Amino acid sequence: MGEYLALPPHPPPPGPQLRTAPTVIARPGPALVEQRRIRRRPLTPRDGRHIRDSPATVAARYSGPNAITCAERPAAGAPSLVTPRRPEPDVGTDVSGQGCSSLSPGINRSPTRAAYTVAVTVSTSLRVLTAPPRRPRPVRSPRTTVVADSPTGPQDPVRWSLLHYGAMRAINLNGFGGPEVMEWSEAPDPVPGHGEVLIEVAAAGVNRADLLQRRGFYAPPPGTTAVPGLECSGVIAQVGDGVREWSVGDRVCALLSGGGYAEKVAVPAGQVLPVPDGLDLAAATGLPEVAATVWSNLVMTAGLHSGQLLLVHGGGSGIGTHAVQVARQLGARVAVTAGSAAKLERCAELGANVLINYHEHDFVELIRAEHGLGGPGADIILDNMGAAYLGRNVEALALDGQIVVIGMQGGVNADLNLGALMAKRGTVRAIKLRDRPATGRGSKADIIAEVRAHVWPLLEKGEIVPVIHAEVPVAEAGRAHEMLDEHETFGKVILRVGS
Ligand SMILES: NC(=O)c1ccc[n+]([C@@H]2O[C@H](COP(=O)([O-])OP(=O)(O)OC[C@H]3O[C@@H](n4cnc5c(N)ncnc54)[C@H](OP(=O)(O)O)[C@@H]3O)[C@@H](O)[C@H]2O)c1
Repeated sequence: MGEYLALPPHPPPPGPQLRTAPTVIARPGPALVEQRRIRRRPLTPRDGRHIRDSPATVAARYSGPNAITCAERPAAGAPSLVTPRRPEPDVGTDVSGQGCSSLSPGINRSPTRAAYTVAVTVSTSLRVLTAPPRRPRPVRSPRTTVVADSPTGPQDPVRWSLLHYGAMRAINLNGFGGPEVMEWSEAPDPVPGHGEVLIEVAAAGVNRADLLQRRGFYAPPPGTTAVPGLECSGVIAQVGDGVREWSVGDRVCALLSGGGYAEKVAVPAGQVLPVPDGLDLAAATGLPEVAATVWSNLVMTAGLHSGQLLLVHGGGSGIGTHAVQVARQLGARVAVTAGSAAKLERCAELGANVLINYHEHDFVELIRAEHGLGGPGADIILDNMGAAYLGRNVEALALDGQIVVIGMQGGVNADLNLGALMAKRGTVRAIKLRDRPATGRGSKADIIAEVRAHVWPLLEKGEIVPVIHAEVPVAEAGRAHEMLDEHETFGKVILRVGS
């Protein structure tokens, strides 16, 4: 026929459950388009494949049923105008029965419906082509999450996605286990959806939760990428529909539900923060997760305030080093536990008042010798140990005290003496940040807004500082995990991703 662009070989089917949703026209600019041919002929079932498969992006227009009148493609070197949307499971095969349709499910059943579908696509295209240049619309392609969650298993869909869409590099987990299961290799490009931005990652923070996820004990929330990483810093590379507050080029850091150990990550705009004035991208990397955890638990939940006594278990941790500083800024007194004299000394430099080496002393005894506003004992305990410390935490509590459990390094099952808790009029809470929704009441966006309003000014004035133990290239993420496993660290370990 010769009317259409030469096509690459049709891709292998991604698996019986995978399909690609209708074509989306993205980022056109009139200068990028060169009209190729104008011709009429009946639509055949193969047209769906032409329209989707052409790497140069074909848009087609209908003037009457089953007739194509023109096709455009980008000028040489210009970005593609049409990209496939993310695959959705459980839809079926394309018109040609080869399993990779870009058209709607209806096209499988009716060529007329196919013609209609193409006409809709193309009329959108033409409208955009004749409109003045405007803000780029997001390019949609499969998200890592969908691929990883595919019922056909991760292997084939990932390879399929890498062949057909952009590929970045990320830490992929080859099974669960030690640091050796982490591999810096290709992964499908994430794409910002509605209300999201795409960040080109400069650095990612390492959190204890990443170690648990690597071992298979901390699954990402449903719909979240399997790539680890709960926080990052970088530069915004793309903004999705509906995002007003951020622009391409902004230097930011972000709280993630996953995906930080990668060159790119898509994140809801409400979880993004500016890099605080006076700090660089690396210094900001380790802030979102600790600041959100500490502020939401100690202030938004437990209401920590001046004069109270706070006990922070693991004072030398990423969380602990930030919690000590925030509590001191609020006028609280702070007791910390840590595993060495050197770490306790550094906690004192950050403002801790009571230093307890948990290898040498029983924290209950030492805390009960201290007074908070509720009498002897701690008004609030920020606990990383869970089961192992529950009973002793209750003993260390002051009247009306609160235990906020954020970690379970000492196990998940424990006996709770309700009588002892009642005698203290105490409260035990157990709270996880990662599972909170992106928006709405009690969401990550709510917390990030509070953090920006209350913690960011303190960082900008230098009254709270980021505490960074080490920076490690992301390809050596295993080494970073070993540092945490071996209790070497004081503060955060950062993975360098960008140059
Ligand atoms: N729920 C949430 O939303 C949430 C969010 C973020 C973090 N977290 C939790 O918060 C904790 C800290 O996280 P991170 O990323 O900052 O971890 P991290 O830097 O790896 O710190 C772990 C800390 O645990 C301390 N530790 C170990 N055994 C201890 C014991 N017997 N008594 C007291 N402390 C002990 C270590 O102290 P030494 O090194 O001095 O031995 C170390 O400071 C973790 O349990 C993590 O899972 C929870």
